[in-house]
Amino acid sequence: MEPILCARNISKSFIGVRALNNIDITINAGEIHCLAGENGCGKSTLVKCISGVYTPDHGEVEISGEKYKNLTPIEAMNKGIQVIYQDLSLFQHMTVAENIAISKLKFEGNKTINWKKIKSIAKEQLNKIGVKMNLDETVGEISMANRQMVAICRALAQDAKILFMDEPTTALTKTEVDHLMKIMLELKKKGLAIVFISHKLDEVFTVADTITIFRNGDKIGDFNSKDLDEKSLSYHMTGREIEYPRYHRTCKDNSPILEIDHLTRKGQYEDISMTIRPGDIIGLTGLLGSGRTELAMSLFGLNPTQSGSIRINGKETSIASPMAAKKQGIALLPEDRFNQGLFIERKIKENISSALIDTICKKGLIRKAEEDTIAQKYVNELKVRTPSIETVVGTLSGGNQQKVVIGKWTATAPKVFIMDTPTVGIDIGSKSEIYEQIHKFADGGMAIIFISDEIQEIMANCNRVIVLANGKCIREFDENELGQDGADKIITDLIGSQSAEEVTP
Ligand SMILES: Nc1ncnc2c1ncn2[C@@H]1O[C@H](COP(=O)(O)OP(=O)(O)O)[C@@H](O)[C@H]1O
Ligand SMILES: [Mg+2]
Repeated sequence: MEPILCARNISKSFIGVRALNNIDITINAGEIHCLAGENGCGKSTLVKCISGVYTPDHGEVEISGEKYKNLTPIEAMNKGIQVIYQDLSLFQHMTVAENIAISKLKFEGNKTINWKKIKSIAKEQLNKIGVKMNLDETVGEISMANRQMVAICRALAQDAKILFMDEPTTALTKTEVDHLMKIMLELKKKGLAIVFISHKLDEVFTVADTITIFRNGDKIGDFNSKDLDEKSLSYHMTGREIEYPRYHRTCKDNSPILEIDHLTRKGQYEDISMTIRPGDIIGLTGLLGSGRTELAMSLFGLNPTQSGSIRINGKETSIASPMAAKKQGIALLPEDRFNQGLFIERKIKENISSALIDTICKKGLIRKAEEDTIAQKYVNELKVRTPSIETVVGTLSGGNQQKVVIGKWTATAPKVFIMDTPTVGIDIGSKSEIYEQIHKFADGGMAIIFISDEIQEIMANCNRVIVLANGKCIREFDENELGQDGADKIITDLIGSQSAEEVTP
């Protein structure tokens, strides 16, 4: 195999953090190369050093035989290096065609706009990956999965030789991920090198030829993916053996906390009923768009229901606002922790105390000592890795940010805690700590609605599972059924059989 890029002795530090420590890596044509490792281990920093965004403190990058110590982004692009970042960096207000063609035309030095050319470039690239899309649609209005396709086409239009994809699957459903992986495999066949960054083990194994594992800025090694399995990979990533213990309900109290009957909001979810007891961890699963998040929002007073009833502790109630939900002991960990779960620029302690602000205020002033005590308690309990409770939340890793959101709501002592995809984009280490914590909550009598489409975590954490599709409950599993061999496969098939309408084949 022919190496297109070699990076040697790459080191990079930020203030107080050694992000990369003497890294060597070789990327070959026609290969899918995964960079694997927990959040914060340096994967994105390495990509930025290789693509000219950062100048490394030491080391050099050799591309097609030419050596660079201070590679610029333009040089990297001219050499065929294309990076698709997590946010995709698309122009939201421009069309699909414009987004695909603009960089190519810019580089070619075009001074006037040639609409015909824009469209033909876009069409040609979309054909390459076998995707049909409305070229005139505004990118802000298409699905995440399709935006990803646009970003890939934009890279291809610029004659990408190496395509870096930094955690491309975080916002995609299972079906969309499968589609993306198929496209990656096709592109590889055409000779492209793809560097795929992920901390999701199943995805890594589906596509990777080579896996380079990082831990804390160090390279642990390069592996042929055939020589690793999930267990050894996660061991190398974390330095620990990780197993998720299965949850079993121990709570003896069988009187329902939350009962919902025939809850309906047309177009979102229909005729949903469930009874939740203390200590239940109910898995709510189904694709994005299956109605799971909309249902969660309704139970938290953010999305009025049209018909059906809700009872809390046997008493019929309506939940008209998040304030009302909180008063009745309902908490919601939202799907989008960055925008909805946290005040990202504020300190940990301010975030944790924010849901309790009415109880820790006296005469309009926050009792600082009490705020500190509460924050410190939940930082300790949830094992938030931070220098102090004064640290700004935005500087923490994803896993630690999520622990802060959990801490904030736990401080309100909820009876029902709805968690909408609580471990998306979170490293394996933090994940298992979060699971452990959720089990503790449930053992203590809290009821949890656990929304997820990651089958492993549903099997490990839930004693009951409800599968939603197009707003309807299509199947429910009790503890017995979940314990039977092959239950995970049945649930996966149920979810997978639902087509993701957003991706046009
Ligand atoms: N611009 C930056 N300023 C300061 N620290 C940074 C910056 N970018 C990354 N880091 C730190 O460098 C380490 C590696 O980060 P990153 O490369 O983003 O990890 P990964 O992509 O593997 O999750 C982390 O400790 C992170 O906090
Ligand atoms: Mg990263």
